[in-house]
Amino acid sequence: MEHTYLLQQANATQDSIERMKCVAAFAVSAVASQWERTGKPFNPLLGETYELVREDLGFRLISEQVSHHPPISAFHAEGLQQDFVFHGSIYPKLKFWGKSVEAEPKGIITLELLKHKESYTWTNPTCCVHNIIVGQLWIEQYGNMEITNHSKKKLCSLYGKWTECMYVVEPAAFEAHKKSDKKTPEEKKNKSGGEEQEEVPSPSTDTVQMIPGSQLLWRIAPRPPNSTQMYSFTSFAMQLNELHKDMEGLIPPTDCRLRPDIRAMENGDIDHASEEKKRLEEKQRASRKNRSKSDEEWKTK
Ligand SMILES: *[C@@H]1O[C@H](CO)[C@@H](O)[C@H](O)[C@H]1NC(C)=O
Ligand SMILES: *[C@@H]1O[C@H](CO)[C@@H](O)[C@H](O)[C@H]1NC(C)=O
Ligand SMILES: *[C@@H]1O[C@H](CO)[C@@H](O)[C@H](O)[C@H]1NC(C)=O
Ligand SMILES: *[C@@H]1O[C@H](CO)[C@@H](O)[C@H](O)[C@H]1NC(C)=O
Ligand SMILES: *[C@@H]1O[C@H](CO)[C@@H](O)[C@H](O)[C@H]1NC(C)=O
Repeated sequence: MEHTYLLQQANATQDSIERMKCVAAFAVSAVASQWERTGKPFNPLLGETYELVREDLGFRLISEQVSHHPPISAFHAEGLQQDFVFHGSIYPKLKFWGKSVEAEPKGIITLELLKHKESYTWTNPTCCVHNIIVGQLWIEQYGNMEITNHSKKKLCSLYGKWTECMYVVEPAAFEAHKKSDKKTPEEKKNKSGGEEQEEVPSPSTDTVQMIPGSQLLWRIAPRPPNSTQMYSFTSFAMQLNELHKDMEGLIPPTDCRLRPDIRAMENGDIDHASEEKKRLEEKQRASRKNRSKSDEEWKTK
């Protein structure tokens, strides 16, 4: 909050791009406070809070340690003139690498510029403390920090399942449905699985429930009954290798439908298919050998 003036600067400008620049500077400026602060952190206790009102700087803030394990702090700040709301969580995921410790930020930070009806989010960069065993401690911050402008109104919500269908619906209807359709904790627990193998889910379990008012964009056609004997092809895929009379002379000689081994396989003559495949592959090897003897390069057609 040391650089809150950047938010006031953002509020004061009428150009959205200029505002976003100020927001980006504000986001990075917060990280700067960690420079050379390699001391052991003084971790807040669970439920510990911190409250601050700075009339001179134009903001008030409250924060709370909301989780002990993993340690997570939540905060909420507001401009005293209703110019901004700034909130988020600090949730560093620690990884020990032997000589260094890395804190990957999991918390999302949100800034709302109320007068401009703009909302920005970002995540802090990864922070690494080097030389935790021997040598001098030092801090490195790295990774991308992407500031996202969320003010663009949600136009529609898409939902569905890749093995089944896809719908589009009004965002409000989708949100309302999501609230009423919370999975029971028991179901969730079972899904996360234990030590055992995860069973392959059947596409027919957990079928997509249509939200009223939705428009169907796509639905998969059922597979033909003999699909499993045909490489689990769909009817469409099964037709792809068919060679129709009217294609002959029209499709180029390189077309895969003309491969004799594929033809034999399509006709159920596996022995012949296998012989032909061997012959073709040997021919291909010889042709490659020929090319390597000359300067001739393979050219695509
Ligand atoms: C925020 O900006 C608006 C106009 O964009 C201005 O009227 C208002 O005084 C500004 N607030 C602060 C705290 O600077
Ligand atoms: C942010 O989103 C708003 C609403 O769509 C738009 O008017 C504004 O130009 C955007 N600003 C930037 C910097 O993308
Ligand atoms: C979760 O798994 C347990 C043990 O396998 C089973 O008894 C229970 O019915 C499952 N619950 C759900 C909601 O699938
Ligand atoms: C599988 O079914 C399709 C049509 O549904 C048919 O054209 C094809 O010959 C069948 N293949 C086998 C191996 O039964
Ligand atoms: C390899 O080159 C020889 C001599 O140019 C030719 O006769 C033969 O057909 C070529 N073989 C292949 C597989 O291209």
